[in-house]
Amino acid sequence: MTDSVPEHAALLDDFRKAMRHVAATVYAVTTRHEGRSYGILATAVSSLSFDPPSLLVCINRSASLHAPLLAEGRFCVNVLGLGNRDVAEHFMTPSAADRFTVGDWELADGVPVLASAQSSLLCQLVHAHDFGTHSIFIGELTAAKHRQDATPLTYFDRQYIDISEAPGR
Ligand SMILES: Cc1cc2nc3c(=O)[nH]c(=O)nc-3n(C[C@H](O)[C@H](O)[C@H](O)COP(=O)(O)O)c2cc1C
Repeated sequence: MTDSVPEHAALLDDFRKAMRHVAATVYAVTTRHEGRSYGILATAVSSLSFDPPSLLVCINRSASLHAPLLAEGRFCVNVLGLGNRDVAEHFMTPSAADRFTVGDWELADGVPVLASAQSSLLCQLVHAHDFGTHSIFIGELTAAKHRQDATPLTYFDRQYIDISEAPGR
């Protein structure tokens, strides 16, 4: 039992390494609550069901977005395209207050939507489940917009890559 802590650390390290090499589409998950916009960059997003059309997002409970999203019950999953890299980089600035100063943000049903995003998926929160450090938020789709010509911004090995250059595409 004395080596359980190092074993756990090694397991975490292996997990991080494994996930680093999973290519992931980058999303800006947003909400607006009491007159203020909130958003974080996320990759833990997945479509869930087509009946009803729904998706899930996994949000750290310590993130600035978490409480406002839970309180407001509405959010937008902005699927970022290659042309939105400036928005992705700006979202990683420490201050949550000025995240919406870069990008063509507009309000749709009172929620921040990035007009130039590859897709915008507006959701009504229908379920929240806490696990570990995160909450899994399930949203039912209320509106969606998609640009046919887009290439997703992809995160791989701690950097953004252009999947249109991936072999075999
Ligand atoms: C590529 C990338 C993917 C991320 N994916 C998630 C995610 O799926 N869920 C999440 O809660 N945080 C994710 N984060 C971290 C958040 O973007 C954010 O930095 C963190 O929650 C702190 O946000 P805050 O400053 O608004 O509190 C990701 C960060 C990066 C760079």
